Amino acid sequence: MTDKKYTWHKIADHINELDFADNNIAVAEVKGKKICVAKVKEQVFAFAYKCPHAGGILADGHIDALGNIVCPLHRYKYDMRNGRNISGEGYYLQHWPVELRDDGVYVVMEDKGSFWKWF
Ligand code: FES
Repeated sequence: MTDKKYTWHKIADHINELDFADNNIAVAEVKGKKICVAKVKEQVFAFAYKCPHAGGILADGHIDALGNIVCPLHRYKYDMRNGRNISGEGYYLQHWPVELRDDGVYVVMEDKGSFWKWF
């Protein structure tokens, strides 16, 4: 049994309210902190605004043909579903489940702990 606490945070009233750039990545905010939201086909993913390697702005990256986010700075690649650094450098991308509900778009995060360390 875990004592971790999680909270769903509403980031938009509707997916169409998020301002997706040509790279299919939008920037949203949770408690005043930026996160990235990406659309890949019909799926939506949420992950850290900054790359865990050296702080590259992932919102300025691109999504490759396999659906991985590619950092614009040194081109490390991360699987948005599980945070795995698939280009093999050993980093981990903070990411969060997203739900599209009737009343909006929600992201669930642990109340404290690792979420904040990437900012
Ligand atoms: S800062 Fe993202 S790969 Fe280096």
